[in-house]
Amino acid sequence: MSPSASTKFKNPRAKYNFEGRPCSIVGVGSYVPAKVLTNQELEKMVDTTDEWITTRTGIKERRLAAKDEFTSDMAAKAALRAMKAAGVTGDQIDLVIVATITPDMVFPCTACLVQQKIGATRAAAFDLEAACSGFIYGLEIAQQFIMSRTYDTVLVIGAEKLSSIVDWQDRNTCVLFGDGAGAAVLQNRPNSHGLLTAIMGADGRRANLLHMPGGGSRCPATAESVAARQHFLRMEGKETFKYAVQAMQSGASEVLKRCEIDITKIKCVIPHQANRRIIDAVGERLGAKPDQLFINLDRYGNTSAASVAIALDEAVHSGRVNRGDLILLVVFGAGLTWGAAVIEW
Ligand SMILES: CC(C)(COP(=O)(O)OP(=O)(O)OC[C@H]1O[C@@H](n2cnc3c(N)ncnc32)[C@H](O)[C@@H]1OP(=O)(O)O)[C@@H](O)C(=O)NCCC(=O)NCCS
Repeated sequence: MSPSASTKFKNPRAKYNFEGRPCSIVGVGSYVPAKVLTNQELEKMVDTTDEWITTRTGIKERRLAAKDEFTSDMAAKAALRAMKAAGVTGDQIDLVIVATITPDMVFPCTACLVQQKIGATRAAAFDLEAACSGFIYGLEIAQQFIMSRTYDTVLVIGAEKLSSIVDWQDRNTCVLFGDGAGAAVLQNRPNSHGLLTAIMGADGRRANLLHMPGGGSRCPATAESVAARQHFLRMEGKETFKYAVQAMQSGASEVLKRCEIDITKIKCVIPHQANRRIIDAVGERLGAKPDQLFINLDRYGNTSAASVAIALDEAVHSGRVNRGDLILLVVFGAGLTWGAAVIEW
């Protein structure tokens, strides 16, 4: 356990008889594409208003990747920034994990494309599909490899070009999503930012709430599937909202319990940036004060696996969190999946 962490916390793994070495987040970075799509511009595309989007979601604008800018491009840019912050070069990386539901193509995996773009020539690489929960799933997986001494340096990226699977004729969903990428480099580095614990959860009974019917083995692309708009994401908003609040609250409570701390000890809660009302409801249930909550969804909307990764980078670089502060990450996504993590920055 790093000296800074040991002054205040028990290693949450200890009570699970896990004697691994501790894991630190040694650098973070993010990238969002230049093009901004505002609510006012959406008013011209579908039957909606800035007022509706703002009051129901808190989103004002989102970023859209260029036609020739793909998930792997955004992932690589975020990764290079995280590597620079960590002082790590491509050849030091042992494993590249890309969490995404919008890979450049079904195969090969986007992580292999990123591995080539960032010169991580020695690294193993795979994609992780846990929708909006992917970045925290990635942190937990990276932590396992580092704690077990299998790998020394793991790069976890959340990256999405959601604009490529959003139905721009469906006002129920197209107002919610955006593109971007965030990344973190993890190592065992005493005196760095400790990942104290992370958890992952899933409930496949609710898989139908948020999904994309076309493009997989169940419904390969055909002229009919394209005409039926099956290659776009579909969502039951109200039900998703309900489960999001429940799952995020229970995930966050679980990691706080593991660390034997309460919410007052957390400097910054970084929730999945899906909907301002979800964030407020989760914050209220956890007993968090509004100024503990980190919000950037007004500028980016929901960027799925990239969401908390971008937010973590912004929280760090804007000075919202400082050395020694505790950060709570909590996410929720299609699957259904959820996750939470506590970091001592
Ligand atoms: C999608 C969401 C914002 C909708 O908010 P809501 O308060 O549940 O709104 P409803 O679905 O009840 O829709 C209310 C009305 O607004 C309409 N509406 C939906 N989208 C609209 C839009 N963009 N502009 C204007 N009206 C819209 C609906 O058609 C409905 O009209 P009706 O009453 O005439 O049928 C909300 O349910 C939500 O955020 N859910 C969770 C989504 C999420 O986080 N997904 C990602 C998880 S990782």
